[in-house]
Amino acid sequence: MNKIGVGCASITELEKKYVMDALESERLSQGSYVAKFEKEFARLHNQKYGIMCSSGTAALHVALEILKEVENWNSNTEVLVPAVTFIATSNACIQAGLKPVFVDVDEKTYNINPAEIEKHINENTRAIIPVHTFGQPCEMDEIMEIAKKYNLKVIEDCAEAHFAKYKNQPVGSFGSLAASSTYVAHTITTGIGGIIITNDRTYMEIARSLIAHGRDCTCEKCIASDPRMVCPKRMNTEMDRRFLFVRLGYSYRIGEIEGALGLAQLERVGEIMSKRKENARYLTEALKKYSDVLQLPEFNDYIDHTFMMYPIVVRKNSTFTRDELTRFLEKNNIETRPMLPLLNQPVYKRIFGNIEDDYPVAKWINRSGFYIGCHHGLGKDELNKIKDVFDSFFKR
Ligand SMILES: Cc1ncc(COP(=O)(O)O)c(C=O)c1O
Repeated sequence: MNKIGVGCASITELEKKYVMDALESERLSQGSYVAKFEKEFARLHNQKYGIMCSSGTAALHVALEILKEVENWNSNTEVLVPAVTFIATSNACIQAGLKPVFVDVDEKTYNINPAEIEKHINENTRAIIPVHTFGQPCEMDEIMEIAKKYNLKVIEDCAEAHFAKYKNQPVGSFGSLAASSTYVAHTITTGIGGIIITNDRTYMEIARSLIAHGRDCTCEKCIASDPRMVCPKRMNTEMDRRFLFVRLGYSYRIGEIEGALGLAQLERVGEIMSKRKENARYLTEALKKYSDVLQLPEFNDYIDHTFMMYPIVVRKNSTFTRDELTRFLEKNNIETRPMLPLLNQPVYKRIFGNIEDDYPVAKWINRSGFYIGCHHGLGKDELNKIKDVFDSFFKR
C-alpha cells in the first residue's frame, strides 16, 4: 500500500472536463471559470463577493492591506493572531507592515482562546484574525463580542475550514473579510490558489485592484482581455483604465485552470465533506481506547467540523513522546505533520525572541501535537491500516 498522506487531489472526470474546456477556450488568465468559482464559493459561505487569488497567504495579505487603506492603519497597528497557526497568518501581518501579537490557544480546540484575548489588547490593537484550524470553527460568539467591545475588525483565516459552521453559520461570514487557501491538501483544492470573501463592495473593489498591480479597473468579471468583447469602460478615463494604477498593488492573480478545478470541486462539495466527516468518526472510534494518552478531536454539538486534518495531541501523562509515535507512524507509511508550531520557528525566534514560555498551551502543542489525514481519498483499507499501526505501537 502506498504512503497514507495527509491530503489528496482526488481528480474526477468532472475536473478533467472543466480543465479541458478551459484549455480549449484558449483563455488561461481569469475568465468565466474563475468568476463562477468566486461566486459559488462566496454564496456557499453566505457572502456576496469572492475574489480568487494566487494563494491563501496572498488572500490574507490583501485582506489586511484593504483594512489598512480603508481604516488608515499605520505601522504601530497590532493584529491579534493565535499562537498556533500556519506561519502564513502572522507572516501576512508582517508583510502588510503590521505587528502580529500572539494569543494563546485553547487546549481542546487548538484555536485562539477567547479568554486570553483581552489581556493583549492595547491602544494600537485594531484587528483579530481567528484561524479555524483543521476544520474546526473558533468560538465566534465570544470573539465577535470582544471585537465589538473594543471596535476591532475581524478577518477570518478559513484556509483550513472551508464550509465549516459555527451554530449553523458558515465560517467566513462573521468578520469583515475572510481568507482561504485552496492549496493541495486543503478541503477544496485547485493545486495552488486562494480566495477572499466579503459582503462589502468597496473591499471587493480594492481586493480586485490589489491583486492586479493596483489597477483602477475592478469589475467582478473582466471582459477587457476577451477578444470577443469590447469593454465599454476602458477608454473613459485619462488613459486606458486597465493600465491606470491607483495604489501599490501585487501580482496575485490566478488563472482559468485553477478556476475550472475549483468549480468542479465545489460541485462535489457534499460528497467530499461527508466522506471526511465519516473518516474522522471512524478514526475516533478506532483510537478512543487510547484516549487516556492521546487527545482526540472533541467538539460541542453546535460545531460543524469539516476535518481538513485529524489532529491528535499526546497527553502530558503519557510514557512516550510525540516524536516516538510519529516516527513509528512514518516508518509504517502513515504521513504525519507537526501541529502548526509557530513561536519556536527559527525565523520567529529571531524576530520576536524566545516568547514561547508566555504561551503554555502553544508550547505543549508544539512538542506534543501532530496530525494525520482523514481526507476523502481514504477508503476502509487505509483507515484499517491506520488503526492497525496505532495498535501495534501500543502493543510494543
Ligand atoms: C491557516 C492557514 N493560513 C494560511 C495558509 C496559507 O495558504 P497558502 O499556502 O495557499 O499561501 C495556510 C496554508 O496551509 C493555512 O493552513
